[in-house]
Amino acid sequence: MGTVKQVAKVPYHLAIIMDGNGRWARSRGLARLAGHRAGTENIRRILEGCVEYGIKVLTVYAFSTENWGRPDEEVRGIMRILEHTLDRELPELHKNGVQLRHIGRLEGIPEELRQRVREAIELTRYNDRIILNVAFNYGGRTEILDAVRRIIERGVDPGRLDEDLFSQYLYTPGLPDPDLIIRTAGELRISNFLIWQGAYAEYYATPTYWPDFDKEELYRALLEYSRRERRFGLVKA
Ligand code: IPE
Ligand code: IPE
Ligand code: MG
Repeated sequence: MGTVKQVAKVPYHLAIIMDGNGRWARSRGLARLAGHRAGTENIRRILEGCVEYGIKVLTVYAFSTENWGRPDEEVRGIMRILEHTLDRELPELHKNGVQLRHIGRLEGIPEELRQRVREAIELTRYNDRIILNVAFNYGGRTEILDAVRRIIERGVDPGRLDEDLFSQYLYTPGLPDPDLIIRTAGELRISNFLIWQGAYAEYYATPTYWPDFDKEELYRALLEYSRRERRFGLVKA
């Protein structure tokens, strides 16, 4: 592992909207799936950087509930890439103390991939160096609806329902909210990502396409984060 340039303050939970795989490919005259392959590869590099910085949770947005609307070939290709990547990387991830988690709906994901995800989660559940939380078939609105549905099913007393209790019904029970959300590829929008948990996250956007987002870029984002003053609605003492 290399050494990273130090920053004054590091987020506990970093979340990344990994955008720009398609544009990265097009700019090289490649097919979109080549971009998804390069983007998926890049997770390893950034995960390693996060470990070096002592970040404890990395959430990556890999596939949204809206992404099902893309051409069939692209959707199926993304599923295949994830399946292969999981097969190839899992032993190494496990050896390195990575705990794998998934947020999103498992329903709708092809059975082979779903089975592998379950096995990976089971295998790595006691690892504690870093949590790699993969948002796949994830949508923030769907997450909130799923929570409301379960709250009603459980017959939760409306008088008891507060933000803490509600959070326990989301896909991220027990996980602290993201401190920093990075979006690559220049767009300035949330695209339905962690809309509840990100209420007080710091946001950082870079024009760099995700496959080109390297440790130097990570450093720049963390440096800017370390200079932000988080007020949470309060006034400075
Ligand atoms: C992000 O890259 C990956 C997914 C949304 C699955 P895109 O595929 O959105 O790449 P662009 O935005 O078209 O460049
Ligand atoms: C957001 O990127 C979803 C993921 C990175 C998985 P999109 O490319 O789907 O978002 P929009 O369409 O630009 O909002
Ligand atoms: Mg995109």
